[in-house]
Amino acid sequence: MWTWYASRGAGLVSLVLLTVTLLLGISGVGRAATDRWPRFALARLHRNLALLAVAFVGTHVLTAVLDGYVDIAWLDVVVPFGAGYEPFWLGLGTVALDLLAALIVTSLLRARLGLRTWRLVHLTAYACWSLAVVHGLGIGGADSTTGWVLAVTLGCVALVVAGLVWRVRIWTSAPTSPPGSASTSATTTSATTTSATTTSATTTSPTTTSMTTRWTA
Ligand code: HEM
Repeated sequence: MWTWYASRGAGLVSLVLLTVTLLLGISGVGRAATDRWPRFALARLHRNLALLAVAFVGTHVLTAVLDGYVDIAWLDVVVPFGAGYEPFWLGLGTVALDLLAALIVTSLLRARLGLRTWRLVHLTAYACWSLAVVHGLGIGGADSTTGWVLAVTLGCVALVVAGLVWRVRIWTSAPTSPPGSASTSATTTSATTTSATTTSATTTSPTTTSMTTRWTA
């Protein structure tokens, strides 16, 4: 029985860790850097929190299957929507896990994949996190829709929404360089991050390299 509580606890901790990891990603790491928290430290924090989240998700899944109280097979851990227990809500967790695995593997292979491919896959972090939220709310039933479990989950949602609003405001308030300006892109605005990063896959200027490192966390 302790495994059931361990599973639920680990699930909730995973969600919190994924939330903080996502927030660091949303910040673009470089833009959130300060003297006290330089970019490399934030990038490392982003990566290590992601790896810690994987460890907790592993514990969550392992204890859920080993508990045996409900019908979850090992195959259900990776193949969604076929479980004997809450197939839909469990399936959402499985898809989140599959996406998380893809995010980790592609990040480890980023140098071989190229920035563009890596970044496309990395955008699924939003889907991964969202699916995990809905999975937790749906599968936990009355337990996760009342009290502090709900408070933690809604707190995570509020933080990510606030992070996205902040990001959009930065994009929309970014200054535009005059036409013909030499350094139109990389060092000036966060609004250009997306296009600069995409372009950087085919160029090698030092400025581009510094943009690239923003997404390496
Ligand atoms: C990124 C992946 C995942 C995350 C972040 C995650 C997170 C969560 C959260 C937050 C809860 C609610 C905890 C609570 O209400 O106390 C939960 C419940 C649960 N999850 Fe996951 N989960 C993930 C993937 C999976 C997978 C792949 C499985 C199984 C194959 C699974 C099985 C369960 C079970 C059995 C419960 C508890 C159901 C209940 O209380 O009735 N989860 N998960």
